Amino acid sequence: MSLLDDETLWSSSVVANCDMNRERGLAGYRRELGGDLALEPGTRWVDLCCGSGKALAEAARDDVTITGVDLVDHHVPARDGLSFVVAPVDRWEPAGPVDLVTCVHGLHYVGDKLGLLVRAASWLAPGGQLVANFDVSGVRRADHSPFGRVLTKALRDNGFSYDTRKRLVSFEGPGRPRLPFAYSGADDRAGPNYTGQPAVHSYYEPL
Ligand SMILES: C[S@@+](CC[C@H](N)C(=O)[O-])C[C@H]1O[C@@H](n2cnc3c(N)ncnc32)[C@H](O)[C@@H]1O
Repeated sequence: MSLLDDETLWSSSVVANCDMNRERGLAGYRRELGGDLALEPGTRWVDLCCGSGKALAEAARDDVTITGVDLVDHHVPARDGLSFVVAPVDRWEPAGPVDLVTCVHGLHYVGDKLGLLVRAASWLAPGGQLVANFDVSGVRRADHSPFGRVLTKALRDNGFSYDTRKRLVSFEGPGRPRLPFAYSGADDRAGPNYTGQPAVHSYYEPL
């Protein structure tokens, strides 16, 4: 099977799918992430694959710094405390440490999902939190089989938490985790995942 490189994936119809929900508000983010998203004054929040940024606009205040990052330039207007970056999350990184990194139903479309988790965890300030929807069955071996428990064990062994029922991955900073998998490429013909939307399978070789 030929796997897609990042540039080809970013222009794939699965990643550009107009039926995916890009409009969640803050209540939807709380529901998906299972937390209250209460922002202390001074909080620096990065939301990867932010979609329209509606949730971010609802949370925005003068005393917090919120950055939304998405491939597509379709976000609500920026304002004090809220900015947007139009970029692939695979290549972007913040200028300094952050207190909260979220990715709400974005990893399903990313090629190197594990590489993004490792990089995002490394951005966290002490006590900072990373939380993301993550379907481990989207991470595959060359023979197409999912890594399943091998992956959840590797995540936990390297400081991540994984809630199998909610399909949520999290990490508390600071840290520079590593995961023993080498990324080979992506498949955008994987079909729908548990969200009902077509998703991207990501292929790895165990190290
Ligand atoms: C299902 S939507 C979720 C949007 C938002 N988080 C929400 O819940 O409303 C997934 C988003 O991921 C973005 N996306 C997919 N791959 C991306 C990538 N490699 N870099 C940046 N954004 C990406 C898509 O453009 C889309 O806006």
